[in-house]
Amino acid sequence: MTKTVLDNGDIAIATLRKPSALDDLKAKYPASRLHILKLDVVNKDDITAAFEYAKKEVGRIDVVFNNAGYSLTGEIEGTPDDIAKRMFDVNFWGAMNVSKEAVRFFREVNKPQGGKLWTVSSMAGIVPLASLGYYSASKHGNVLETVDEEHSMTGYISISPGRRHGGPCRRTRPKVEHQGVYCAP
Ligand SMILES: NC(=O)c1ccc[n+]([C@@H]2O[C@H](COP(=O)([O-])OP(=O)(O)OC[C@H]3O[C@@H](n4cnc5c(N)ncnc54)[C@H](OP(=O)(O)O)[C@@H]3O)[C@@H](O)[C@H]2O)c1
Repeated sequence: MTKTVLDNGDIAIATLRKPSALDDLKAKYPASRLHILKLDVVNKDDITAAFEYAKKEVGRIDVVFNNAGYSLTGEIEGTPDDIAKRMFDVNFWGAMNVSKEAVRFFREVNKPQGGKLWTVSSMAGIVPLASLGYYSASKHGNVLETVDEEHSMTGYISISPGRRHGGPCRRTRPKVEHQGVYCAP
């Protein structure tokens, strides 16, 4: 996404936990068009600081893109609450907190008002899949569509991909041990 934005001649404020991951793009595009900020979506201060930076350095945001997230594989009964809650902190609360700052920015900073909010949801957020129950719940898009309904200046798009074969999601996916209740005797 960042590369596409830059190749179109636009400005990208790329936020990520490990800024060095974008060293290749940093070497290729001018700092006036590629801004790289360290941000963990679990940290509300990081989110606020990123929007403050955008206001000061760029003055307007046309599109906010929520991509951060990971999947958790495990049956509901076999998944410890703390592991599921950690995923909700990223997939649900991370996207919510970014989205709330985005709509505030669209209303209070952008002139003229408005902006587009894009979120990577998942097919699993629409269709229930065994062993992805908590992930499905964390990706269910209705709440962000509600934000869109409440805020008439936002163009909201939920992108719901199916499973990408060999997708890098595997990198971050925690695995939960299968519990005896579902195993063959
Ligand atoms: N792959 C699929 O089959 C699939 C299907 C449907 C939906 N999706 C969704 O697509 C999105 C991208 O996933 P992907 O498949 O491209 O996997 P990915 O390469 O693992 O991308 C996930 C990204 O989220 C970032 N992230 C995780 N926790 C974060 C946090 N607390 N703060 C900031 N960034 C964080 C990761 O950063 P680090 O590099 O620092 O870990 C990584 O860059 C996710 O929302 C995923 O749920 C994926």
